[in-house]
Amino acid sequence: MKVEKINAVITGGGSGLGEGTARVLKEKGANIFLIDLNEEKLKNISSELGCEYFVGDVSNPELMSEAVKNLENINCLINCAGIAAGAKIVSSRGIHDFNLFEKVLKINLIGSFNMLRLCADKMQHNSPNEDGERGLIINTASVAAFDGQIGQAAYSASKGGIVGMTLPIARELANHGIRINTIAPGLFETPMLTGMSEEVQQSLIATTLFPKRLGTAKEYGMLVNSIIANPMINGETIRLDGSVRLAPR
Ligand SMILES: NC(=O)c1ccc[n+]([C@@H]2O[C@H](COP(=O)([O-])OP(=O)(O)OC[C@H]3O[C@@H](n4cnc5c(N)ncnc54)[C@H](O)[C@@H]3O)[C@@H](O)[C@H]2O)c1
Repeated sequence: MKVEKINAVITGGGSGLGEGTARVLKEKGANIFLIDLNEEKLKNISSELGCEYFVGDVSNPELMSEAVKNLENINCLINCAGIAAGAKIVSSRGIHDFNLFEKVLKINLIGSFNMLRLCADKMQHNSPNEDGERGLIINTASVAAFDGQIGQAAYSASKGGIVGMTLPIARELANHGIRINTIAPGLFETPMLTGMSEEVQQSLIATTLFPKRLGTAKEYGMLVNSIIANPMINGETIRLDGSVRLAPR
């Protein structure tokens, strides 16, 4: 797909990887529409980039149906909204909170599913391009889907679910000319990560092979741009991680 012909919905567009992707795609001539819970950030970024936005929870089916209802010609969805939460199954603090596990699954996994089902429903009616493409979905998982650390049961399960649903959805949506791929980022310099202590950040960076630093949101957006441009990338989960392998703790 040509990036300048992209009409993209970007969730989590108010911060971090979603914001970085919005900047990269906008600069390359795409139309973008941002969704996030954080109204203030959305307002600022949208007025800077000259795009529209919707404030709401990606895991709310009625609200998100409302959010995309009047959008015309959506041909790309980039799911970046997500939360990180750490907790052990059993520890001196007690047993893993049931509601926390449910919340992480609801936002990260079900929220991504909710958005892709609503956007695929719209994409199926697009006129195909010369390659037969009607749309593209890009999810954001994490390397924690594969090498999750102690305390990441909920987060890893939510991201593993995203990886798991990628191929069956690609197989189904191929009939409609819609591709779906998942990016599994390693360690990126966003508020989600920089909110951790300097000590934790340095110990995580130490397990990265090369380059030995955090990735940038722009580098994430660059991969999104490559996936948009290359029609053969389909049904795949791509690690974008400087070859980091997370240690058990
Ligand atoms: N930063 C990293 O190192 C890293 C690594 C692996 C995976 N990820 C994943 O990348 C995605 C983006 O993370 P980030 O690092 O940019 O974090 P971030 O906290 O900077 O951005 C996440 C955005 O999602 C929004 N959001 C959260 N819950 C939402 C909901 N229910 N509905 C709508 N919006 C919601 C937040 O308001 C925020 O603006 C997440 O799914 C995260 O799990 C990040």
